[in-house]
Amino acid sequence: MYYYIVIALIVAILIHFIKNRIQYNREIVQYVDKLPGPKAYPFIGTFHVFIGVKRNATFKTLKNVSAQYGPLYRTWARSSPEVNIMKPEYFEIIMKSSTLIKKGITYGFLFPWLGDGLLISSGAKWFQRRKMITPAFHFRILEHYMEVFLEKSKKLVDILLTKSNGEIFDIYPYITHCALDIICETAMGVSVNAMDDVTGNSYVDSLYRASELIIRRRFSPWFQSDLYYLFPEGREFQKHLNVLHGFTSKVIGDRKKFLKQNPNNKINPTFDDMLTSSKKRLSFLDLLLSANETIPDKDIREEVDTFMFEGHDTTTAGICWSLFLLGNNQDVQDKVYEELKQILGDKKCPESISDLSNLKYLECCIKEALRIYPSVPFISRKLTEDVVIDGYKIPKGVYCNLHIYKVHRDPEIYPDPMKFDPDRFLPENAAKRHPYAYVPFSAGPRNCIGQKFAMYEEKTILSAILMSYKITTIDSQSTVNELAELIMRPENGLKIRLEKRHK
Ligand code: HEM
Repeated sequence: MYYYIVIALIVAILIHFIKNRIQYNREIVQYVDKLPGPKAYPFIGTFHVFIGVKRNATFKTLKNVSAQYGPLYRTWARSSPEVNIMKPEYFEIIMKSSTLIKKGITYGFLFPWLGDGLLISSGAKWFQRRKMITPAFHFRILEHYMEVFLEKSKKLVDILLTKSNGEIFDIYPYITHCALDIICETAMGVSVNAMDDVTGNSYVDSLYRASELIIRRRFSPWFQSDLYYLFPEGREFQKHLNVLHGFTSKVIGDRKKFLKQNPNNKINPTFDDMLTSSKKRLSFLDLLLSANETIPDKDIREEVDTFMFEGHDTTTAGICWSLFLLGNNQDVQDKVYEELKQILGDKKCPESISDLSNLKYLECCIKEALRIYPSVPFISRKLTEDVVIDGYKIPKGVYCNLHIYKVHRDPEIYPDPMKFDPDRFLPENAAKRHPYAYVPFSAGPRNCIGQKFAMYEEKTILSAILMSYKITTIDSQSTVNELAELIMRPENGLKIRLEKRHK
């Protein structure tokens, strides 16, 4: 049996290699190889730089390669050429284009999980879905979501009370479960009460392990084809997929059941309905379930999987990195607290979008945290037409990786780049920078549909925590290890100490 698997593996690799060589004809190779980059070998391309590298050193290895060859260099994902870019001017060429919207290699490995949902799809399907889903994230709808942000933030603050006795603990799972409750209740209209048990949650556990396995697969030459599923690691990935899909299927099932049992709540929202409905909290899932043109169950699941993942893992990381930096910079935390007292007065949390909009300094802190630690450190495209970057022609068919974290840490744009300095985001300072020098939510037609949602959620949760507690972080920037497995997060969670504030 083992013998056959090895033969099948070799044949599959050979077929894949030959197919790709034909596809990327010699002209493409010539153009791409004009760029600097690590030495490439047959079958493995430039993956050798990752062979033997441990999980917690993968991002560091990538950073070293970028430091050596950047800001424009080429790599070979086995036989697929990639260019890596890390300058705002280069980002602008890709991000502002309305035609360069096809996603890159990593998204292919996300496909078994997220399918052809909004994050991964392209062409007419993406365009139509984006148009359809956009109203669910209009700021008037977000006003309705504000009550959920508030309710869940208050619950989180209450839960954290038991931890405010000076003990050191990991706040990451608490934030994760709070964000999960929020995305389920706002976008899906379903309560999952994840915060009631932060110690174990099979959805969250499977999500982290699946993210890790996706990145391992991305950089392992032998795991690229579907033969992956014959290996124990591929089978483990499949097991986690079943958990992830089981959770989202249940969410959809619960909402369908609710709509069936409550015919008066059944809605058929149009954009106007959504804007004018003052009482009902209209969810994005309702929008999909009651669309005029019936959307197949499979497509609904893909969108729910996409929003469930994008809608909580990214904001969790953003909130945690903000807390990490505030806990390391007490002077900044004091300033945030002063602003909170001044804007909120006797309130314990911001209660409206207008409260949130007045928290200008907190916003600078969140933006600065997303600069140093962007939740999404890389994005990637497959070029569907030739582009010229810095005088180099990059032919159609080549993959293009945009290193967001690298631009955000460019010392020429942000002097002393790892310093947490929220004043960089005062309007007069931000205006001096290139518009694509700060892109945590990407930019252009494929930007993040949930960016306002994310900012409101982050502001509400952070305000609630900081109004009630003073935070001290245990790790410093020099001791924390960044993992960049789809989402950038601290390897060992976020260890903090909380001290109750007495007003
Ligand atoms: C701090 C929080 C967040 C960050 C940093 C972030 C970042 C990003 C980035 C960089 C992209 C572009 C991805 C690419 O081009 O491949 C993106 C796309 C997307 N984001 Fe977010 N995101 C955040 C929160 C959210 C939230 C809260 C939601 C949903 C409620 C969401 C839903 C999406 C979706 C669906 C896309 C794909 C959009 C499209 O291609 O049309 N994100 N996000």
